[in-house]
Amino acid sequence: MANPAIANPLAHAAPVCWLNGKLVAPEQATISVFDHGLLYGDGVFEGIRFYNGKAFRLHAHLERLFLSARAIALDIPYSIAALTGAVVDTIAAAPEPNGYLRLVVTRGPGPLGIDPSRCHSPQVFVIADRLQLVSERVRHEGAKVIIAATRRLGADGLDPRIKSLNYLNHILARMEATHAGADEAILLNNAGRIAEGSADNIFIVKKGELLTPPVIEGALDGITRQVVLELAQTLEINAREIPLAPYDLFTADECFLTGTGAELIPVGHVDGRALPACPGPVYQRLSAAFRQVVSQDI
Ligand SMILES: Cc1ncc(COP(=O)(O)O)c(C=O)c1O
Repeated sequence: MANPAIANPLAHAAPVCWLNGKLVAPEQATISVFDHGLLYGDGVFEGIRFYNGKAFRLHAHLERLFLSARAIALDIPYSIAALTGAVVDTIAAAPEPNGYLRLVVTRGPGPLGIDPSRCHSPQVFVIADRLQLVSERVRHEGAKVIIAATRRLGADGLDPRIKSLNYLNHILARMEATHAGADEAILLNNAGRIAEGSADNIFIVKKGELLTPPVIEGALDGITRQVVLELAQTLEINAREIPLAPYDLFTADECFLTGTGAELIPVGHVDGRALPACPGPVYQRLSAAFRQVVSQDI
């Protein structure tokens, strides 16, 4: 998103890191240059928010992490209960009660060459830090998005449900947005339909109905997306997962993005076209309900 003041560990006191079973100072949290996570993007991760000292939807994040790891035949050397403990300890040691965790599992060190069969020590770490992905201006006035030329890799290349360390095409799309003076990029799948944002899922509203692309179109099975679909049901907003074309985005009544980092972000412009309502009424209802869920979850 725009004006990213992405967490800079040097900008404030003591970010915290849990590495392979121990809390350590960030400067002691080191990973081998032979780690295949670094060399080849071979690994999986989760981004998790914590509010008031408690991780939001932790179980869902850990479930997704373990499924991503299974899908790439990566054995996480900790149980879900042990990683829950790691997250709790990291949050307790964090300098502030609200922030963001990055939980990463790499394939671990091994010989050069992409074959992971001789990587025997997956590395697991959790970083707690601040995160401000989205400026207040964007939160209030709405994001300007572009449709990127860079496409989302299809499920035939890499299943979008795997939250892997391979983000290069998302990064290229995000660079396109920055270059165009926009806040975020929307990636299409290889059929030219809407997949998702560079680090968020996308919803539109048309005639009062909430629409989002099915995951199989090339979207991460986002946890915030799931919360929004649940809230739509509670609020009796008709919601459907349906393939969407750029046309649907250009002609939407409302549009917004969802993600752990983004939370819910209204979209005001798509490729230079102003949407009629931003923040729109459906977004406002869902956003208020989301804040309530976050505060009740604590
Ligand atoms: C590519 C991508 N899509 C969607 C999302 C949103 O998912 P979630 O709501 O689980 O954070 C993310 C979050 O990191 C992401 O990286």
